[in-house]
Amino acid sequence: MKITVIGAGNVGATVAQVIANKELANEVVLIDILDGVPQGKGLDMYESMHVLESDTKIIGTNDYELTKDSDIVIQTAGLARKPGMTRDDLLIKNAAIVKNCIGSAYKYSPNAFYIIISNPLDVMTYVAQKVTGLGRDRVFGMAGVLDTARYCSFISMELGVSIQDVRGLILGGHGDTMVPLTRFTTVAGIPVEDLIPADRLEEICNRAANGGGEIVKYLQTGSAFYAPASSAVQMVEAIVRDQKRILPCSIQLEGEYGYKGAVVGVPVVLGKNGVEKVIELKLNDKEKGMLDTSVKHVTETIEEAKKLLNM
Ligand code: 2OP
Repeated sequence: MKITVIGAGNVGATVAQVIANKELANEVVLIDILDGVPQGKGLDMYESMHVLESDTKIIGTNDYELTKDSDIVIQTAGLARKPGMTRDDLLIKNAAIVKNCIGSAYKYSPNAFYIIISNPLDVMTYVAQKVTGLGRDRVFGMAGVLDTARYCSFISMELGVSIQDVRGLILGGHGDTMVPLTRFTTVAGIPVEDLIPADRLEEICNRAANGGGEIVKYLQTGSAFYAPASSAVQMVEAIVRDQKRILPCSIQLEGEYGYKGAVVGVPVVLGKNGVEKVIELKLNDKEKGMLDTSVKHVTETIEEAKKLLNM
């Protein structure tokens, strides 16, 4: 198993480190355009493997040739938000970065799975799919896992119970219009709607939807990376270990949920063949209305990206 991480910033470096700690690959290639940064971080990480008792080899480079024949490529390169910015504000710069990076990686790894993390995430997933021409089983975005992780952590804080007992689901685009599904959220099998009053639950959903912005506001100079990186690694692990996990991923819909061509987060089965199945939930009118709004927003941004990149 060879895994390439594009971008040696906070998210990329943390992804590489967690993959190596968990020994999910024989080799991790950390690539960035900045000379010295991937080399330094890669070597530092590799030196830590002795202590962490992992045999994963980590290489830092600026040269895409070294990414050749990767099984999984994780796209993290791109600008992060500053306070007051939305993820969509990153569109112009990141669309060009993602197009370049994925184009270069694809040349050397045409059979890889591509996991997209750069923002605006659903739109960048569309760009990556366009650039590679690969199917949605191989090109998908990490968003729902992160959004759900935030949502579940807030529920665990609220109830004072183990974070591991909370199971939830967030659909839609990775932005303010995301759709937390309280009806499909349980705590050790107990419906969350029986445990938390509706108005408080709504506050928790709003906090989850703005969870990325909350971290940006604290950090001032960048955005979250521990939870985003761990979320991407959960997807990597599902593929590497063929776990058939049901995780919300951003994919291009082909008629599911009534949309064709839109790229948003929905629950899928992730295993050794990438996205192996899309799970369609029966949404009620309110949930469907929220998903409609989210799809509309992402689709408009995709149209903008298409114009910018002449796609
Ligand atoms: C977040 O939600 C960076 O979009 C990422 O924190």
